[in-house]
Amino acid sequence: MTQYAKVIGTGGYLPEEIRTNEHISEKVDTSDTWIFERTGIKSRRIAAKHETTSSMAEVAARQAIEMAGIAADDIDLIIVATGTPENVYPGTGCVLQHRLGIKKGVAFDIQAACSGSIFGLDIANNYIKSGAAKTVLVVGTEINSRITDWTDRGTCILFGDGAGAVLLQASDEQGILSTHIHSDGQYEDLLNCPNPQAMGDADGVGYISMKGNEVFKVAVNTLGRIVDETLAANNMQKSDIDWLVPHQANIRIIAATAKKLKMSMDHVVVTVEEQGNTSSASVLLAFNEAVRDGRIQRGQTVLLEAFGAGFTWGSALIRY
Ligand code: ACO
Repeated sequence: MTQYAKVIGTGGYLPEEIRTNEHISEKVDTSDTWIFERTGIKSRRIAAKHETTSSMAEVAARQAIEMAGIAADDIDLIIVATGTPENVYPGTGCVLQHRLGIKKGVAFDIQAACSGSIFGLDIANNYIKSGAAKTVLVVGTEINSRITDWTDRGTCILFGDGAGAVLLQASDEQGILSTHIHSDGQYEDLLNCPNPQAMGDADGVGYISMKGNEVFKVAVNTLGRIVDETLAANNMQKSDIDWLVPHQANIRIIAATAKKLKMSMDHVVVTVEEQGNTSSASVLLAFNEAVRDGRIQRGQTVLLEAFGAGFTWGSALIRY
């Protein structure tokens, strides 16, 4: 019998500090009105000094484990998506494995920028379908505030910190219906964050650099195509999708994808206003929020999608 990767738990963590558009306007030449009109963002969360990507991941993971009602030790694969790992190595996945007290199985990291959680769902789905793993934890966790140049008004208005988690388990019941991931490395110049130390610049610091307007155009077109690809692969119509859970980069990109699906914004999970772009955490944070507040119900069909640096992009269609 087909084994599906079924969602058995979700979790999320947002740091306490709220940085509003007004706070940012005190430091760079911008305004709440400009930021909100162009992005849909009002505020974002900022990690405290003592927090790390693994400490935030642990909180989100423990919530997912509690919701699922399993023991942490039941997890045989941990996949952590992050672009802001606390170490070059060991991987954040291994640090998280230890924090959760898990001594078996395997943990590793993936780097696919804002598409990281979708890439994680793709790997988890393939491990479960092939029988190579039974219970898989996927976490997206980011401290973007530490790779943000707070003097660059083109990027510092966009990003935030947080962690989202989902637990998947092999089941005869439907779960992930399909995943679709892609990359095209030719766009490095449009969106990147260098690692100066690795480039031999021991005193350098690496910050996000982005040609926002050009990224915006590619993102809208690419996400339109991934919607078509996902529907076609599942022989579904636009009207078969109950919920859209998009990557939270910009409300205008989200609205364009909803329009493509002919979907009212009432069926789109939006967190960007209060969280900004939490990169690989954003889709799982939004999914967790809508599962926990009861919007997403068992049996419904949910389309998750993301686009990020690389460029990377992808989708996951889930029967929740
Ligand atoms: N406040 C006021 N003015 C600003 C600000 C600001 N914060 N930032 C830029 N401007 C100015 C620019 O200097 C420019 O001025 P000019 O016309 O005098 O040159 C003008 O506003 C227009 O700039 P654009 O860059 O064209 O503005 P745009 O409408 O494209 O909005 C934004 C910028 C919000 C960044 C948008 O392009 C965007 O959201 N891009 C996509 C981001 C994204 O999806 N990234 C992918 C995921 S991120 C990841 O993977 C890590």
